[in-house]
Amino acid sequence: MPETLLDAAKSVRENAHAPYSNFKVGAALITSSGRVFVGCNVENVAYPEGTCAEAGAIAAMCAAGERVITEITVIADSPTPVPPCGGCRQKISEFAAHDVPVTLATMSGKIETTTVATLLPGAFDSSHMEI
Ligand code: THU
Repeated sequence: MPETLLDAAKSVRENAHAPYSNFKVGAALITSSGRVFVGCNVENVAYPEGTCAEAGAIAAMCAAGERVITEITVIADSPTPVPPCGGCRQKISEFAAHDVPVTLATMSGKIETTTVATLLPGAFDSSHMEI
């Protein structure tokens, strides 16, 4: 059975480096070519230098030469599903169409699915820079 995005996100979450928040997050995305990329949060003693799980998955995708996200899943051990932070919403929006599903999950099995447009209404995009 192929690994689901949720399985991939759950698995990479174990590798999170989160000694300061103790809040491990995993993200997995699939691209238009069908490849899966994963990321976890990587914190730093200089707190603002930490990076989110979503940013790690997006960086891995770009490093592999891919640019189009068709689905993304994020998981954390939280009471309710954790939505991406504001910065990550913008990062996801760079590579995902408005209707791309974003699944948010908890380790206890709660799952919600929303979309890029719902998470970031009125997103700034390249059309705003057309002259
Ligand atoms: N975090 C993520 O990795 N993704 C999110 O969507 C929310 C927050 C991380 C950042 C930080 O390492 C920890 O969770 C606590 O904010």
